[in-house]
Amino acid sequence: MPKKREYTDDYPEKTLYLPGPTEVRDDVTDAMAQPMFGHRMDRMTDLYTTIVEDTKEFLGTDNDVIVLTASGTEFWEATTLNLVDEDMLVATCGSFSERQANVAERLGKNVDRLEYEWGEAVKPEDVRAALEESDKTYDAVGTVMNETSTGVRNPIEEIGDLLADYPDTLFIVDAISCLGGDFIDIEEHNIDAIFTSTQKAFAMPPGLAVCAVSDDAYEREANSESASWYGGFQRCIDYYDRKGQTHSTPAIPIMLAYRKQMKHMLDEGHEARDQRHREMAEYTREWANEHFDVFPEEGYESQTVTCVENAQGIDVAATIDAVSEEYDFVFSNGYGSELGEKTFRIGHMGEHDVESIKALTDAIEDVADL
Ligand SMILES: Cc1ncc(COP(=O)(O)O)c(C=O)c1O
Repeated sequence: MPKKREYTDDYPEKTLYLPGPTEVRDDVTDAMAQPMFGHRMDRMTDLYTTIVEDTKEFLGTDNDVIVLTASGTEFWEATTLNLVDEDMLVATCGSFSERQANVAERLGKNVDRLEYEWGEAVKPEDVRAALEESDKTYDAVGTVMNETSTGVRNPIEEIGDLLADYPDTLFIVDAISCLGGDFIDIEEHNIDAIFTSTQKAFAMPPGLAVCAVSDDAYEREANSESASWYGGFQRCIDYYDRKGQTHSTPAIPIMLAYRKQMKHMLDEGHEARDQRHREMAEYTREWANEHFDVFPEEGYESQTVTCVENAQGIDVAATIDAVSEEYDFVFSNGYGSELGEKTFRIGHMGEHDVESIKALTDAIEDVADL
């Protein structure tokens, strides 16, 4: 049992270079401080229809968009319950994709795994082979677009393209740690459900999860015996279509922040945001290669989080503490006990730019005497 540690009002402000939560603009934080209003008032319809339609415009999709009060994990459960009756193929290459498989098993689905070593990326030809060799018709294939634990960016576009040959198998993509910072054409690549959390590359406070849902996914749920109540696509989308609101009381302050930030995202645009993230990733990889190594398989490096292999054997925990103490910058250790000291991770997502990432790498150089 943890002892109560009284929250105080005097924490130093830290700049976040985590793979989420990340930095939030001041005007976005300020947007939350409004007198409360009711979730069945017209004002709520204005707010919710604005954020849903702006998100579609930003992502360039005609698919339905659900913005739900939850963390992204909710859509692991909901997509599985809504779209998988029996059999699911999950391609795993790190902690989060493994958890996607675990969630589906916990929900009683038959899960076949296509497994890769941590640091490797999922290969489309292996997905095709798995589909061909199985005597099952999988209800869905699931995987992550960006494996946050290893800094791998999976070739989601190619996997989606090959799934066009398997019309009964829907494609579920966890894009939690990259959507908004790594361009994806959802419809072009047959993605039936793709989801994120707001605290990642959307650069908003945590508390909302966003999912874009294809017509096929919406229809599939109609025949599902296990569809989610809270995250049911039909319940969420039908309620939106009828009333422009959410089926239950949402986190209104975070939606106010969302509205503000999505306008900034629209001003910048999906492609320009992609380009800025590409530049940050390239800079961070160059720096990592100069001083350490890059952990993920070459050619599959993430655009939003660089997983640096600690080739110099620095004390990762001590360096993180010292950078936080001396510079008020926070970055992340490697994932779990296996990678904790073997790697560290720099989140270059959301509102950061090359200059702000350079401030962090300069600080690491200083503290670790590189
Ligand atoms: C790839 C991936 N999937 C799922 C999650 C879980 O997201 P949330 O904490 O918003 O539920 C994370 C969180 O870091 C993630 O990076």
